[in-house]
Amino acid sequence: MLRSRIVGTGSYLPERVLTNKDLELTLDTSDEWIVSRTGIRQRHIAGDGEFTSDLATVAARRALEMAELEPTDIDLILVATVTGDFSWPATACLVQSQLGAHGAFAFDLSAACSGFVYGLATADSYLRSGNARRILVIGAEIFSRIVDWTDRTTCILFGDGAGAVVLEAHEGDRGILSSHLHTDGSQWGLLFQLGSGSRNPSCGQEGKNCLPHIHMQGNEVFKVAVRAMCEAAEEALIANAVDVGQLAYLIPHQANRRILEATAKRLGLPPDKLVMNVDRVGNTSGASIPLALDELNRCGGLSPNDLVLFDAFGGGFAWGSVLLRW
Ligand code: COA
Repeated sequence: MLRSRIVGTGSYLPERVLTNKDLELTLDTSDEWIVSRTGIRQRHIAGDGEFTSDLATVAARRALEMAELEPTDIDLILVATVTGDFSWPATACLVQSQLGAHGAFAFDLSAACSGFVYGLATADSYLRSGNARRILVIGAEIFSRIVDWTDRTTCILFGDGAGAVVLEAHEGDRGILSSHLHTDGSQWGLLFQLGSGSRNPSCGQEGKNCLPHIHMQGNEVFKVAVRAMCEAAEEALIANAVDVGQLAYLIPHQANRRILEATAKRLGLPPDKLVMNVDRVGNTSGASIPLALDELNRCGGLSPNDLVLFDAFGGGFAWGSVLLRW
């Protein structure tokens, strides 16, 4: 059976680190409050001259290097992002140019924090249908440019970064086993970005323009996130007749520690199988899962045939899971 196998991973975090202590200097907040509510201690912030396509390109190069492939070997570049360089063209087009991946077609996918899981599922369809042989799936975000740094309820959560995988079609049992994607558009108003898009003029008071910023009803998002991530994870386990105890790892979207621990607990997952780096990188939206995956892979945490479950939730609301045999 033809399956989509991950043959290389890569990631990139900007050099500058912003700690909770740094935030205490400009906001009415504290390290203690942020850590106890979110588990986040620091996040990385892109430099002035760095753009989303730059972060994505470095992560992609590292993934290609691990896969021992050239950019010209790639058929499709898919960038999951909601903070691309421009509204259009797609950031994936800039990445294609920077990589020199001349033979690839390229497009962006907008599914916020679920972008990477949506991207994996989309790439899997291209590979299994024979419409592509090798695909770069990249999650890349610069949320530091769209958060309101005076809003302590949102700006403490997010960070910048990129992660990438090379997917290749192979015969056999290893690779993506299933994907389950869901959307509930009726809840879009609980988590979205104001100040961009065709609704921009109505964002401020009485038709005034305003800078981009995130609108979030944190308590509501929290409750739905845990429920949705549990449901998507259970769906994957049932569809593949896999018991939670057989998982090598759950790599969830790194929203915050409380969401992740609550999800793992409800699933009955032992704590050592929950992959978490949110303390060091914050919520990097579409980049979070491939960033955590690359860290785990590069420190030798993964063995052939390990069952790895990716699970995400985000604005839209959009959520889903992908189960993979490594
Ligand atoms: N520092 C100090 N106090 C803060 C604060 C901060 N950074 N942010 C909010 N507060 C205050 C609030 O103003 C409020 O004060 P009040 O009681 O005087 O009005 C109090 O803390 C409690 O606020 P609340 O919003 O109820 O906190 P919470 O326990 O729900 O935690 C979140 C807030 C955002 C951490 C939590 O709701 C959450 O994690 N939600 C999910 C967000 C998320 O992950 N989104 C992305 C999904 S992909």
